[in-house]
Parts: sequence; C-alpha cells; structure tokens
Amino acid sequence: MIPDINNINKNEAKPRKVLFVCLGNICRSPAADEIFRQVVTERGNFADWEIDSAGIGNWHAGQLPDHRMRIHARRRGYELTHHARQISESDFDRFDLIIGMDSGNISDLKELAPSPEAMEKIVPMSRYFTKATRYDHVPDPYYEGAEGFELVLDLLENACDNLFDSLT
Ligand code: 4NP
Repeated sequence: MIPDINNINKNEAKPRKVLFVCLGNICRSPAADEIFRQVVTERGNFADWEIDSAGIGNWHAGQLPDHRMRIHARRRGYELTHHARQISESDFDRFDLIIGMDSGNISDLKELAPSPEAMEKIVPMSRYFTKATRYDHVPDPYYEGAEGFELVLDLLENACDNLFDSLT
C-alpha cells in the first residue's frame, strides 16, 4: 500500500526524513540524495530535513559513488560525496519515507520492513515522475553507458522536484 504522503509531517516542525534506496548505493540513490539536497536548499529550509541514501546490498559499503555517476552528476553541478552503506532495520524507524528506485528495490524493502508501519513508508521513485517518459522505474545504470547515467539524472531531477512539492 502506498502511504498518504500528504500526512507525513507536513505541518509539523520536526524534520522531514527521506531515505533513498537502490541496489548498491553507488549510482542511483546517492545521486537522488544529492539532487534532493539541492532542491531542498534552493526551495526550502535545509534544517527542516533529514536526507540520506542506502543500498539493499553491502558490496560497496564505505565507497564513494561510482566514478561514472560522479562525473555525469558533476557536469550538472552535483558533487557526490556520500559513502555507501547498507540499509538497516533502524532506518525504518528513523525515516518517514523510504524511496526505492525500481521494483526489485521495492520488493526487497518490503521483505526487510520490520512492521506494517514500516511497510507503509516504502514508495517507488517513479511515483514522482511527471515528465512524459517510457520508464516506470529508475533503471540501473551500472552495466550501461553514458546515456544510462544521463537518463538516471533526468529522471531523478524530475522526481526530486515533485517529491519536494508533495512534501511541502
Ligand atoms: P545502484 O547501481 O544500485 O544504482 O547503486 C548498482 C551498483 C552496483 C551494482 C549494481 C547496481 N553491483 O552489482 O555491484
């Protein structure tokens, strides 16, 4: 079930806490994390927010984002400095909204969710797509070329803008 995000901390002073999740936490979710930080910085009050990203797996724990993702992001003005980490059970308590990049992430997150309340925090990033696109998910760019990384950034920029609108 998709939570009613309109009720998530909308009119409360406490931080709005958003966690972006992908498979490895070195391509899509750290890019979403930084893009959303910039949206919040430009359009809101950063102090009101808690923003982070994590991976389903731990293969890249401690690493900076994939160098290809960093290069493509830098060209658009995003400096990716997150260090990869694996999602943990406590994230389901700590965050209000846990946003998966594709259907595999969503089903993995549902497996990991420790409670029905935690389950309700899980939403797909595609929920926030508004531009015409043939994608219903943020595709994994890891085995793709430059176009795959540019596509991810296009989709994430659109989704982050709308995510901010939906939470404010
Ligand atoms: P991400 O991309 O989930 O967007 O960080 C991937 C990164 C690494 C792997 C797969 C996807 N991997 O198989 O190591």
